[in-house]
Amino acid sequence: MKKEKLIVLSVMLYMLFGTTHLFAEQVRSLRGSTPLDKPDPTNVLKKTQNDREPIERDYVQQPPLVPHKINGYKINKNFNKCLTCHSWANYKEAGATKISQTHFSDRENNVLANIAPRRYFCTQCHVPQVDAEPLVENTFTPIKTIHH
Ligand code: HEC
Ligand code: HEC
Repeated sequence: MKKEKLIVLSVMLYMLFGTTHLFAEQVRSLRGSTPLDKPDPTNVLKKTQNDREPIERDYVQQPPLVPHKINGYKINKNFNKCLTCHSWANYKEAGATKISQTHFSDRENNVLANIAPRRYFCTQCHVPQVDAEPLVENTFTPIKTIHH
């Protein structure tokens, strides 16, 4: 009786282990076959592009990409480094683009005197760039190349 149970268990274990093993061989991750506890060889930290011209937008609603470094720029409850240059009070002196009107409306379209909380954490939508090849193919076509 005990022996039978053991055999059933080992068959089940074999099936489970056998299939996971097969699965692991078929899936190719971007890390290649680097084990999980080893550093990812593809994940080389690249230098952020700095002080380039504003980057062309690919579609009308796109949050513009950040054309400068943002290393060490703090955004927390008490302070927002981005606003020291991009706010309506400071943009002229900083020579930066001012945040647009849309950043002053809450989700019910109430117009606020200050930046809306949902637009406070700039890097949710605006990201700096590095010179990197895309990891996966992307067939997205910018709207400008579509003929109407
Ligand atoms: C020291 C001042 C300064 C700070 C701080 C700063 N920026 Fe900028 N930012 C600029 C300047 C200057 C430009 C370029 C304006 C130009 O050339 O037209 C710019 C451009 C941009 C643009 C491109 C706008 C467009 O129309 O293409 C975005 C987006 C942006 N910044 C986001 C951010 C975010 C997000 C932060 C905080 C993480 C930040 N910036 C912090 C000065 C600053
Ligand atoms: C929820 C997403 C989101 C967040 C958060 C956000 N933005 Fe934007 N931002 C956008 C989008 C989308 C646009 C382009 C359309 C528009 O102007 O609303 C934009 C446009 C801009 C522009 C260009 C304005 C122009 O006149 O061309 C600047 C500069 C900018 N944002 C700065 C910021 C800064 C600084 C913060 C943080 C204080 C911030 N944004 C937070 C989505 C966001």
